[in-house]
Amino acid sequence: MRNHIAQIKEELGQKLSTVSALDGIQVIESSFKKTIKELFTEMKGLSPEEKREAGQLINDLKNHFEAKFKEMREAAASGAKTEVTLDLSIASQEFVRGKIHPLIRVGKMMEDVYKEMGFSIAYGPEIEREKYNYEMLNMPYYHPARDMQDTFYLNYPSILLRSHTSCVQIRYMLTHKPPFMIVSPGVVYRVDEIDPQHTPCFYQIEGLVVGEGINLANLKWAMTESVKRIFGETLKVRFSPCYYPYTEPSAAVDMSCIMCGGKGCRTCKDTGWMRVAGAGMVHPNVFEAVGYSRDTVGFAFGWGLNRLPMLYFKIAEMRKLFENEISLWEQL
Ligand code: DAH
Repeated sequence: MRNHIAQIKEELGQKLSTVSALDGIQVIESSFKKTIKELFTEMKGLSPEEKREAGQLINDLKNHFEAKFKEMREAAASGAKTEVTLDLSIASQEFVRGKIHPLIRVGKMMEDVYKEMGFSIAYGPEIEREKYNYEMLNMPYYHPARDMQDTFYLNYPSILLRSHTSCVQIRYMLTHKPPFMIVSPGVVYRVDEIDPQHTPCFYQIEGLVVGEGINLANLKWAMTESVKRIFGETLKVRFSPCYYPYTEPSAAVDMSCIMCGGKGCRTCKDTGWMRVAGAGMVHPNVFEAVGYSRDTVGFAFGWGLNRLPMLYFKIAEMRKLFENEISLWEQL
């Protein structure tokens, strides 16, 4: 009983410290009256000795809080006069309007351009099966190409953070039949050291077009057209032979450097070009892995989406995109 009463005292004290208005005090006071009644009822079962002690404690508690309630009621009544009144002439604080992150802005521009061109948008999860991220993209466990795209595992070796959006190709093909044209934007992860061009988490936009007669010329046109619609007609796009396990032939895709107009600068390492995507004709092994015929034809591409906002907004270092530097965002 002693502990119980001490606890009530403590809790009530805390409760009272949070109210000052009259009606708040009255609510607490009426529930306190009930508590006192309950305590007296509880007391009935005690021995005469315990009863005497408990009775004393309950009375002390009652007197303590009754005095407190009285004091607070009086303070609340007189306080009404000193209450702060609403002064509508005070100027409101300046409202700072937020902005959409440059990455998302350029990502949305890309999505819109592809939608205009007839593509649908498909999404895939960031936590992915190893099978979809590597194995079914023609990268068996012993394939050296996995090294360049090492990632973070949630459950080794089967569950990981996707190292590229190419796994959405697999997911989509497993559940759809050609013909289709899709793009899939999203976040990807790699075990990369942070430097001006690399961060362990970045954005990509994947593309996949499968259908009769699709060829390399279609791929070149679709990719070139999409970035020209964003960066302007004068932009140049260059395709050069490259290797990806899931495409054959494969191409590395470069855009003329926006920073220097192709003359050569620090950002493009004096080459006049920036590597912005990988692409190619989908490998027959990939079609076979998803249950399509090996004669199916289609192209795929993957834009490194971090590079595009850097070029669009002329941001020299990729990590700036992830630093909360308000002064930078204000300029965009
Ligand atoms: N997945 C590649 C990467 O992350 C980019 C890529 C290359 C995507 C070729 C493709 C492709 O769809 O066909 O570097």
